[in-house]
Amino acid sequence: MVGQGLARKVVPDLRLSSGFRAVVCGVALSLASGTNALPAQTPTRASAPAPQPPLYLGTAWYPEQWPESRWDADLALMEQAGIRFARIGEFAWSRLEPSEGHYDLDWLDRAIRAAEKHHIFIVIGTPSAAPPAWLTQTYPETLRVEEDGRRAEHGNRQQFNWANPKYRQLARAMAEKEAVRFGHDPNVIGWQIDNEYANESYDAGTKKQFQDWLKARYGTLDNLNTRWTTAYWSETYQKWDQIPIETKYGNPGLLLSWKRFVSDTWRSYQMNQLQVIRANADKRQFITTNMMGWFDAYDHYTVSQDLDLASWDDYVGEGHLNPVYNGATHDLTRGFLRKNFWVMETQPGFVNWAKDNNSLDKGEVRAMAWHDIGHGADAVSYWQWRSDLNGQEEYHGTLIGADGTPVPLYSEVSQLGQEFAKAGPALEGTGVVSQVAVLQSYDSRWAINWQRHNQAFDPVQNLVAYYGAVRALTNTVDIVSPKVDLKQYKLVVAPALNVISDDVAKNLIDYVQGGGNLVLGQRSGMKDDDNGLQPERQPGPLTDLLGGRVDQYYALLNPVPVSGAWGSGDTKVWAELLSVKNPETKVLMTYGKSNGWLDGQPAAITRKVGKGSITYIGADLNEEQMAAAAKWMVQMSGVTAPFGELPKGVDLYERQGAGKDVWILINFGEAPQTVALPASFENVLAGGDTQSVTLNRFDVVVLKRK
Ligand code: GAL
Repeated sequence: MVGQGLARKVVPDLRLSSGFRAVVCGVALSLASGTNALPAQTPTRASAPAPQPPLYLGTAWYPEQWPESRWDADLALMEQAGIRFARIGEFAWSRLEPSEGHYDLDWLDRAIRAAEKHHIFIVIGTPSAAPPAWLTQTYPETLRVEEDGRRAEHGNRQQFNWANPKYRQLARAMAEKEAVRFGHDPNVIGWQIDNEYANESYDAGTKKQFQDWLKARYGTLDNLNTRWTTAYWSETYQKWDQIPIETKYGNPGLLLSWKRFVSDTWRSYQMNQLQVIRANADKRQFITTNMMGWFDAYDHYTVSQDLDLASWDDYVGEGHLNPVYNGATHDLTRGFLRKNFWVMETQPGFVNWAKDNNSLDKGEVRAMAWHDIGHGADAVSYWQWRSDLNGQEEYHGTLIGADGTPVPLYSEVSQLGQEFAKAGPALEGTGVVSQVAVLQSYDSRWAINWQRHNQAFDPVQNLVAYYGAVRALTNTVDIVSPKVDLKQYKLVVAPALNVISDDVAKNLIDYVQGGGNLVLGQRSGMKDDDNGLQPERQPGPLTDLLGGRVDQYYALLNPVPVSGAWGSGDTKVWAELLSVKNPETKVLMTYGKSNGWLDGQPAAITRKVGKGSITYIGADLNEEQMAAAAKWMVQMSGVTAPFGELPKGVDLYERQGAGKDVWILINFGEAPQTVALPASFENVLAGGDTQSVTLNRFDVVVLKRK
C-alpha cells in the first residue's frame, strides 16, 4: 500500500498443452504447462447475470477465515450497508490447493452462492501473492531472493519470485482452475490478478533473464556499450553474462534497463494468469490488478496495458485526506487506461501500518469516497470487512469488529451505500473529460531519483505542485504518459520530464506544431532513452522549437529571488539559467541577485509557434507564483472550466457523458461555504432543484445539470 507521501513495501490458461512460451516486449519466458494439471472441475451453471449497479460499494471479505455458518450473517450486514460487491480469495491459496494438484474450489463456490443470495457480486482475486507452505518447501527456487542474497521465507506474503518459471506454472494452473470453474458464473463480475505487485528477485535465474532481455533490446554488445558509454570506468562488456543487476549506483543505462526489465517481467507475470482467465471467462468479467498510486517499482503504463480496468488501493495512512495529492493519484490511475477506474481498497477509518494510525474524522470517509467518484472511480471498496482473529493486521480498521458486530463507521458507510444507489443512474455512463494534461513518466522519475542532485527535489511533489495549481482553475486535469496522443488537450504541462526519447520528442513537437501549448518544467529534456545525457543542452530535442535552452542548472542551498510575469518570490531547490536564441522567444521571469551566475538571467521563457506555444520554466515557483503561472497557462491556451476558482476548501468534480453533466461538490475546509451555481441543477442526493448550495465541512452535494 502507499499512503500519502509514504511508500511502504508490503512484505508480507488458455489450457496449456506443453511448452507455451510467452513473449512480451522481448522477454521470452518459458511457461511450460503443469505436469500435475487435473481435469478441469465442472463450470458453474451459466445463467443471466443480474443487472450491475453503475456505482459499486464493496469490501474485501475473507470467508476462508470464518466458519461457513457465519457467512450469511456477514453477508446480511453487507447487504444492509448497500455493499454490492466483495473481493474474495486473493490470499486463499492454501485453502484452494491444500496440497499439490489437489484443488478445492467448492467452498469458494458456496461463498459466491451465499453472496448471490444477498445481491452481492464477487471479484475473485487470484491467490498468487501468498503461496502455500508446501509449494515453496517443495520448490524453494520459487522464493524470491533479496538484493543481499537472502532468500525470503514462508510466514509473510509476497515471498514468491515473479520471474521463476515454476512459480508461474503453478500460479497459472491455480488461476486456470478458478477461471474454468467461475468464468461463466453469473455472480462473478471480475478478476483481480495477484495483489499489489511489489517485490522483484535477484537470484541467478532472474539475472540470466535480464541479460537475455538486454540482448533482445540492444542486439549487440557494441550497441549496448555505446549507448551506456561503458568506456567510462572500464565498464565495457565483452559477454552478456558479465552484466550485473544494479538498482542504486550503477551506470544510468543499466539502472534504467533493470527497471524496464522489472516492468516487462511484471507484465509477463500478469499475462501468464491473464491468458488463462481470458480463455475461460465471459467477456463481461473484467480483469484488473490493484496498483498502488505513485509506487514506482515498475512502469504502470507497461503493466496496465493488458488489463480491462485500472484499479488502485487508496490509503491515506497517517494524517488526513489531502484532496490535491489524493486527487492527483486518482487521476494518475485514471490515466493508465484513460478511462474510469476502481478504488479496489481503501481504509475504513484507519490503517495499522503507519507510524501513528489515527482515524479519519467523522464524515471524512464519506467525503473521501465521493472524492474518488468525482475523479472517475466507479467503485469504492473497504479493506477489510471484519478484523481477522489473528494475523499481521489485527489493528487495521474494518466495518465489523472481531466480534461480528458493526463498528461506529459502519453507519457512515451504510449512508454511502444508499447514496451510491441513489446517484448511480445520474452517474451511469459518465467520466472525466479534461482539456489539460499533466505528463508523468516513470523513466523520468527514476532518472531523477537516482541522481537527485538536490535531495529536496522530489519529482512527485514537483508534479503535484503544477497539477494542484492548474486543477484549482480548471476543475479537471488528466495525468498521462508522454507517449499518448495529445491532440485533444489545449494545454500540456510536463513537470520534470527528464528523459525524452526520440518518439516522445516527436510527439511533443507535433503537438506544439499542431497548435498545442506545452509547458516544460525544470530538469526537462536532459536525458535520452538510455538515461544518458542528450547531446544538446536541455530541453534537448526541443531546444530549437523553444528558441532557447538551459545554459546551466544549479542545486540550491539558499533561496534565489525570482520575479516577473508571475510575481515575486524565491526559488529554493533548483534554478536553471536560461538563455534565448530566437528573437521570437520571450523572457517571462528573471532571477534576482544570488550566486553571480544567475543574477539578472532568464528563469522562464516562452515562444509562440503558429497557433501553439512552448514554454520552459527553470525555477521553482512559490504558491502564489505557481497560481499566477497556472492562470497565465490557462488563459493563453484558452482552457475553459465548468466553474473555475471555488471558495476556500471547496472542490468541484465534473463527470460528463451519456448526455449528462454531473457535478460533485465537497467542502474539505473548516468553514461553511456557499456556492452560487451558474444554472439550475437537480440536487441528486437531497432531491429538488437548486441554484445555490451551502456546504459544511465534509458535506457532499451531487448535482445534475438540467
Ligand atoms: C494493502 C493490501 C491488503 C491489506 C491492506 C492494509 O496494501 O493489499 O491486503 O494488507 O493493505 O492496509
